[in-house]
Amino acid sequence: MFLTSVKKPLFSILLVTLSLLLAVILLSSSSPFSKSYMSSISPMSTTRSEKSDLWSVRRIVDWRPCKWWLQVDPTALPAESNGYIRVDCYGGLNQMRRDLCDGVGVARLLNGTLVLPKFEVAAYWNESSGFADVFDVDYFIQQMNGFVKVVKDLPTELVSKEPFRVDCSKRKGQFDYIESVLPSLLEHHYISITPAMSQRRDRYPLYAKAALCEACYNALRLTKALEKKASELLQAIPKPFLSLHLRFEPDMVAYSQCEYSGLSIASMKAIEAAQGDRKPWTGEAARVWRNRGKCPLTPNETAFILQALSIPTSTNIYLAAGDGLMEIEGLTSIYTNVFTKSRLLSGEDFTNMHGNTKAALDYYVSINSDSYMATYFGNMDKMVAAMRTFKGLFKTLFLSRRAFAEFTSKGLKGKELMEALWRTHRDDFVVGKGLGLPDCFCEFKL
Ligand SMILES: *[C@@H]1O[C@H](CO)[C@@H](O)[C@H](O)[C@H]1NC(C)=O
Ligand SMILES: *[C@@H]1O[C@H](CO)[C@@H](O)[C@H](O)[C@H]1NC(C)=O
Ligand SMILES: *[C@@H]1O[C@H](CO)[C@@H](O)[C@H](O)[C@H]1NC(C)=O
Repeated sequence: MFLTSVKKPLFSILLVTLSLLLAVILLSSSSPFSKSYMSSISPMSTTRSEKSDLWSVRRIVDWRPCKWWLQVDPTALPAESNGYIRVDCYGGLNQMRRDLCDGVGVARLLNGTLVLPKFEVAAYWNESSGFADVFDVDYFIQQMNGFVKVVKDLPTELVSKEPFRVDCSKRKGQFDYIESVLPSLLEHHYISITPAMSQRRDRYPLYAKAALCEACYNALRLTKALEKKASELLQAIPKPFLSLHLRFEPDMVAYSQCEYSGLSIASMKAIEAAQGDRKPWTGEAARVWRNRGKCPLTPNETAFILQALSIPTSTNIYLAAGDGLMEIEGLTSIYTNVFTKSRLLSGEDFTNMHGNTKAALDYYVSINSDSYMATYFGNMDKMVAAMRTFKGLFKTLFLSRRAFAEFTSKGLKGKELMEALWRTHRDDFVVGKGLGLPDCFCEFKL
């Protein structure tokens, strides 16, 4: 069966890891399980070798796809479908993808049949790329086999109909899809939905959760054309490399309403232009806001944290970032091997690429990089962290804006600040904290 053949490699990796682990336990005189979490890592804080970077720290928790997802019974789909469902997705690439995943879960919950989703592109992308322009349709259908039924074409009696639109966004609080959406599906036979974030996925039966997980993390692959471009980019980056999602564009900074000092006049102008009515917080409010971790890290602060984590300044860094990144010298003056896609892909086919397809390139590189770090916690970062986890790539970390703000507001500087940042991020890394992994992933003690 196709499904099991896909899952076998992952399963055998798991088995190999398990047996290795067992060997280590048997060979070592003291069992790692007898030590407490703190005592097992505390030596690191006192005798930290200059040469070992964050990734070399021994982890005690690993996250992996949950068993109930990978071991779902593919023959258990209900024989009868309650109707056809189209998931309508809006916003940036990874936001649309998140909504698609939710929609697939809903479709399975309602025992519906999916038609291909509608990907509508937000105004700021200024383009129109639908689902089929970004993702491989046939692969998606094939991978969803056994999880939920997906069709390319509607039956003839429905093909000329527009779906009945069920607005989920207006339903506040926790609402039950079976109660509020199933009646419309049964009545109209063809509906469209945009999932609401307030839904209670934790109450889903496992088969609906599994459909969501499969759709999101094992059924989406870029189109052949896009993947070709993306792998061309991946090949051009010197190895090994860190993919760094650095968010310090004018719109980001304006949106954050944070105050910054020491920015260039050009940056300040760009931020002001993006601000509109949103004025930054000032005085005490600005300080509180910053300490809550609301302020994007500057490239300069990012470079400082990377150094605190003993990431060598000679590291190859791919900048997964949009156009208009500000103050980038703050990073490139310290980390000198920084690569961007506009530097590596210069042809006309690249200059003609739009927002969503460029975002797809960053996504592809980031799920295939040796390590990934993000200075923000957006949809792309969550998606990349989950995909990397799915692929068994554990060198993934979100830099803590909050820790940086707290420590600096307490007056920590230089070496002291570096030590504090090291400890915070090490502790996160050791237990895989802060990766924002969805329900699809389960904790596994190492
Ligand atoms: C969907 O089908 C399952 C059996 O596969 C059944 O237990 C469940 O009640 C059905 N749900 C709906 C909403 O029809
Ligand atoms: C959007 O695209 C059109 C044509 O491709 C172009 O004329 C227009 O300037 C673009 N708008 C923005 C805001 O980029
Ligand atoms: C950037 O960071 C360095 C320390 O890493 C500091 O000396 C310098 O003043 C910073 N520059 C700006 C513009 O903040």
